[in-house]
Amino acid sequence: GAPKAAVIERIKQLLVEKDAALVAHYYVDGDIQDLAMATGGYVADSLEMARFGKNHSAKNLIVAGVRFMGETAKILSPEKRIFMPDLDATCSLDLGCPADEFAAFRAKHPDRVVVVYANTSAAVKAQADWMVTSSCALAIVHQLKLEGKKILWAPDRHLGRYIQEQTGADMLLWNGACIVHDEFRAEELATLKAKHPNAMVLVHPESPQAVVDLADVVGSTSAMIKAVVEGSAAEYIVATDNGILHRMRQLAPHKKLIEAPTAGNSATCKSCAHCPWMAMNGLQGILDCLEKHSGEILVPEPTRSEALACIERMLAFTQ
Ligand code: 13P
Ligand code: SF4
Repeated sequence: GAPKAAVIERIKQLLVEKDAALVAHYYVDGDIQDLAMATGGYVADSLEMARFGKNHSAKNLIVAGVRFMGETAKILSPEKRIFMPDLDATCSLDLGCPADEFAAFRAKHPDRVVVVYANTSAAVKAQADWMVTSSCALAIVHQLKLEGKKILWAPDRHLGRYIQEQTGADMLLWNGACIVHDEFRAEELATLKAKHPNAMVLVHPESPQAVVDLADVVGSTSAMIKAVVEGSAAEYIVATDNGILHRMRQLAPHKKLIEAPTAGNSATCKSCAHCPWMAMNGLQGILDCLEKHSGEILVPEPTRSEALACIERMLAFTQ
């Protein structure tokens, strides 16, 4: 293919010509994050990506991330055309929660408020009362608990358990997991922590309980970035997809960032500390969206309108 710099220039040109904006998740390749920031787009966590897509005036939106992020953008902005660099970029949480099985689970528990994580298909969101992301899940469940509600939660069992512990809410959990965060290991993390006693440990709540228990900060990708930027420590151990280090290094160049240990390493483990689906996002894919209109995300009715309510409820809550 064409040299990288030429592809980047062409994308920049086409974004303007085609009235398109690029929004990227912190886990995608650093070049794509930089391109989003350099072109008036955005790099963000999944909640901020949703809000950005909804509020931006461009007619076309390119979402560099995984499928549920593109679907959320389309659900919120049906009048926009939404494109993704690779439509096969999914998520183990989404895959592990098929809409029909979820419907059967839900039907058994009609007394519970249905709260689903953003990392689900539109067809699952269409069955939910609330959608949440890792940056607002705790606050929303806390509120539901205050209202005396019992909750049915899907799909991430680690995040669900963490929220249950923090809020004391009555939560029935779906048994899903993120293949990336599930690989972080507590024993090795404890050893690493002992070697760096002054390091602050940052953990995404999709990680196993024993890993979360070692954290100084448990939070979404944006919360972890904030912790690095604002924290007084000189060193940070980071337990999430290592794509996030790119933005952390840019925003806090003098801080030392250490990747948390996983069950395998890059030679033995495909998903260790880097999401294989986030990695499918490439510059060529972005160019194809703009030149060939490939990778368009469509969410058919009535699923789209049915899924809209739970997302809007979350956006209103987090305003
Ligand atoms: P955030 O909402 O923290 O960006 O997380 C999304 C995700 O896919 C985490 O693995
Ligand atoms: Fe899904 Fe995990 Fe990849 Fe996030 S990192 S998109 S939760 S598989």
